Amino acid sequence: MAEDWQQGGFGLYIHWPFCEAKCPYCDFNSHVSRTIDQRAWRDAYLSELQRAADETPGRVLNAVFFGGGTPSLMDPDVVADIISAIRGHWPTANDLEITLEANPGSVEAGRFAAYRQAGVSRVSMGIQALNDADLKRLGRLHSAQEAMIAFDTARSSFDRVSFDLIYGRQDQTAAQWKAELKQALSLAIDHISLYQLTIEQGTAFGDRYARGKLSGLPDEDLGADMFAMTQDICNEMGMPAYEVSNHARDGAQSRHNLIYWRYGDYIGIGPGAHGRITLKGQKLATVAYSNPQRWLDGVSKCESEKPRAMISRSEQATEFLLMGLRLKEGVDLNRYAAIAGHEIDQNAVNHLQDIGMAAREGDRLIVSDQGVIVLNAVIETLLP
Ligand SMILES: C[S@@+](CC[C@H](N)C(=O)[O-])C[C@H]1O[C@@H](n2cnc3c(N)ncnc32)[C@H](O)[C@@H]1O
Ligand code: SF4
Repeated sequence: MAEDWQQGGFGLYIHWPFCEAKCPYCDFNSHVSRTIDQRAWRDAYLSELQRAADETPGRVLNAVFFGGGTPSLMDPDVVADIISAIRGHWPTANDLEITLEANPGSVEAGRFAAYRQAGVSRVSMGIQALNDADLKRLGRLHSAQEAMIAFDTARSSFDRVSFDLIYGRQDQTAAQWKAELKQALSLAIDHISLYQLTIEQGTAFGDRYARGKLSGLPDEDLGADMFAMTQDICNEMGMPAYEVSNHARDGAQSRHNLIYWRYGDYIGIGPGAHGRITLKGQKLATVAYSNPQRWLDGVSKCESEKPRAMISRSEQATEFLLMGLRLKEGVDLNRYAAIAGHEIDQNAVNHLQDIGMAAREGDRLIVSDQGVIVLNAVIETLLP
């Protein structure tokens, strides 16, 4: 019998934990290090890949994602060795997608060609803003023009290049965002990620915010207006959302991220990487140690991961909703019932439909545009 994860696919995430500088808003596991022994890192990834492959022989791999940090700081040779090891370990889907995240400040023209040569098929670039003043406030090392050049360079090597923008920035008006978004969409090929700025605890912005020193952030109403406007403009320009913050033309969705949202299985390799992997019929959560040196030292002793946790059926059902309801396609309620061991709460579904927060389409439950803004509350309503 097919296991549930097969409905979401199988992916591999590789975390590169280094950046040239730490952006003040960012709480990803990213570190600035003056020296990086690329060989040692390559060997560690290769050894972890072997370990992961031994546990999951014969599975068809749908997607690989080099995330960070700034994976465009990896030597292309290291990326090439990793990809060739991956291809040796698992059978791959015909349309295997291999994405690499790039920072426009850390790429030279030659690198993109070398990543392409290594087997990367898609680039996701963190551009964040299209004007220099805002880039500076976001602590970025590149100018808008440098970002454009990097984007064009990436395009000359790859058919699939996506980029990220952050909106809801300090002192940004709705009109300014509208103009910038239109410009961005005129540049975009077939995929773009649009994130509302989140103030994360433990970041430089988080500290400044706590001290009342981060002025000009949008209030809840302006944030909601900006989100709604973003959806309208993207729809008009043929780049509808397929997930809360991700927009694509038909067929250009990120296959790797879809594995998360469709609650497939994925291996996470590298400092702080998370995984979800079904072994002997039991879904497990894996988390690697996040300190880069701790992880690197741990790999040689087979101690790169924290103890694994079994995910109970009810936890799986919750995760399935948390991930799946982010998607425009929603979730299959039959699949929910199979995971949870019981049907979803019909009264809660009816209530959400009555107040316009969600809709049923056949066997699927789909959160409405208004519902997405309060997604956590919607999901809470559905949980037993
Ligand atoms: C791991 S970074 C990707 C790429 C690369 N490191 C870079 O910054 O160019 C992933 C993306 O998350 C988004 N992001 C990170 N922190 C955020 C925050 N606090 N609020 C909103 N978006 C954020 C940014 O758009 C960023 O490009
Ligand atoms: S946003 Fe990107 S470049 Fe900046 S610290 Fe985070 S991971 Fe590094």
